[in-house]
Amino acid sequence: MIISNLQRVAAIASVATLGLGATAASAQDMPELVINDEIAITTHAPAPAYLENLDEVISGWVFRSTETQALQMDDFDNPGMIFVDKAIDAWDKVEGTAGKSCAACHTGGPEEFAGLRATLPKWNEEKQALYTMEDYINECRTERMGAEAWKWSGADMTAMNALISLQSRGMTINVATDGPVADLWEQGKEIYYTRVGQLDLSCANCHEDNYGTMIRADRLSQGQVNGFPTYRLKNAKLNSIQGRFKGCMKNVRATPYKEGSEEFHALQLYVASRGNGLTVESPSVRN
Ligand code: HEC
Ligand code: HEC
Repeated sequence: MIISNLQRVAAIASVATLGLGATAASAQDMPELVINDEIAITTHAPAPAYLENLDEVISGWVFRSTETQALQMDDFDNPGMIFVDKAIDAWDKVEGTAGKSCAACHTGGPEEFAGLRATLPKWNEEKQALYTMEDYINECRTERMGAEAWKWSGADMTAMNALISLQSRGMTINVATDGPVADLWEQGKEIYYTRVGQLDLSCANCHEDNYGTMIRADRLSQGQVNGFPTYRLKNAKLNSIQGRFKGCMKNVRATPYKEGSEEFHALQLYVASRGNGLTVESPSVRN
């Protein structure tokens, strides 16, 4: 059943030049996303010039059911906020050999990080590496607190990531694609368009050629990452970007890259840049 539907997508993907799928999510029949009657989210934006095959970039929220959409419109209904509350507690918790909490150094509170999420991942000059939120958090834990690194997609990490990302909610995604990250961006693009796995599908076959169409009970979105960490109804927890990439690779029966790997960093950079112009939604709610 699963296979046959995926094979259908493969068949659709092979005739992707027909432009199937691009019709489903027109702006006019979609509700607007305003969180807490206050924070306006940009769910449709003109595609950045480097996206040759898209006119418009669209938030994954648009493709969800009315019920799932509603969960993200009010923080009291958003199950992801429970984890944000946990991270607020963790923020003040002393851990590691240096006897420090996050609060000990970041005295302005998580609010200090307003704007950061909208630019990630980005080049870290000092480390000469592309940095995600997870990298920043674990660097502070291991090098500044003398504490253990958190697992990439573990509950502590996704919660802290959500708390910090939340400070940028409603801000426009603006991920740099040039300068020191240019090569990684190209590498990420290459991965995005490479067919992999037994089903021989690329990210683009589903999320670019066929967004808007149904695959099993799911409506395919553009696979945007502006809402991460994402609370998924399916597993009732917050999910990381690279954890989601892993899931999609497994679904096409490919061997996924590892969380934290260079490949996934490059892919995250490229995919994040495909969302330039949308706004930060973290923590979003998806199925
Ligand atoms: C001993 C002091 C110290 C502690 C404790 C600490 N940090 Fe940091 N953190 C820093 C310094 C210094 C930087 C780099 C300079 C900067 O951007 O503030 C930094 C940078 C960061 C950044 C990147 C900021 C940016 O704009 O690039 C994040 C995110 C962050 N810390 C989160 C945390 C979290 C979450 C914790 C607790 C788990 C924590 N830090 C604990 C000192 C600390
Ligand atoms: C067989 C089709 C298929 C392929 C190939 C695929 N995905 Fe997905 N992906 C899905 C489905 C189905 C969902 C859940 C519905 C949705 O949001 O599109 C999903 C969801 C996502 C999401 C979550 C979007 C959100 O709004 O929360 C991201 C991000 C994502 N995929 C990225 C990728 C990347 C990167 C690749 C390539 C490594 C990839 N996907 C390959 C089918 C696919």
